[in-house]
Amino acid sequence: MKGDVEARRFPKGVYIITSRSDDRRAGMTAAWVSRISATPAMMAVALHRASATEEVIRQSGWFVIHALPESHVELARSFGRGSSRDRDKFEGLNVTESSHGQPVLGAAAAYVECRVAGRQVVGDHHLLIGEIVDEAEFCAGETLRYRESLFGA
Ligand SMILES: Cc1cc2nc3c(=O)[nH]c(=O)nc-3n(C[C@H](O)[C@H](O)[C@H](O)COP(=O)(O)O)c2cc1C
Repeated sequence: MKGDVEARRFPKGVYIITSRSDDRRAGMTAAWVSRISATPAMMAVALHRASATEEVIRQSGWFVIHALPESHVELARSFGRGSSRDRDKFEGLNVTESSHGQPVLGAAAAYVECRVAGRQVVGDHHLLIGEIVDEAEFCAGETLRYRESLFGA
């Protein structure tokens, strides 16, 4: 299938994207994440059109991108499985709030909080462009990257 080489061989980080709108919060694992502008500082994430997180971001206008310590493979698997519509993926986790009231995972190595600055439908995904409005670093060390041996089918 086209894209298999990219999926297996191109280096990518593994991140958790979260968002909250009123009392609804959602989160998902994402590898299709990139910095796209230095000034202003902008990020882009590609989220599947059916994802609950994408829907909550559309309502809130905000999202948080978390980089994870290398050891948090299980957390990435958990946020990458099932829908936030059916399950509270945050249950039992240490969760605080960003400066604009968005969910921040205590397990993160670092995060950036983004305000949605643009959205584009691209195939079966929505490309969300976000301007970084806040950020924090919690711990040093290597952060989690995609490896087929960890996340492949
Ligand atoms: C390592 C990994 C990387 C992923 N990367 C993406 C991604 O970049 N974009 C995406 O839409 N889904 C990605 N997924 C799948 C979503 O995390 C998954 O569909 C999730 O259950 C959606 O949750 P939600 O419906 O609660 O938003 C990835 C999953 C894993 C395990």
